[in-house]
Amino acid sequence: MFEKTAKSTLCFCKNIKYGEVIKAIKEKDLKTLEEVMHCTKAGITCWSCRGDIKDLLEEYNKTGKITSIE
Ligand code: FES
Repeated sequence: MFEKTAKSTLCFCKNIKYGEVIKAIKEKDLKTLEEVMHCTKAGITCWSCRGDIKDLLEEYNKTGKITSIE
């Protein structure tokens, strides 16, 4: 099974890795999809990675951290 890691690509349109988005969420305390899109440019071109960004945000907003991707 394909395992996602911090080095996996999250946004193929902009070639942005999970680790980059997670770092931005934590460092800037981003809470919404719009904030992540604005800060990282992930998700601004097509819709296909927005669900993955939302999953990260849901975990962060619920627990204050992101541990599902290492
Ligand atoms: S894959 Fe992220 S905007 Fe298209």
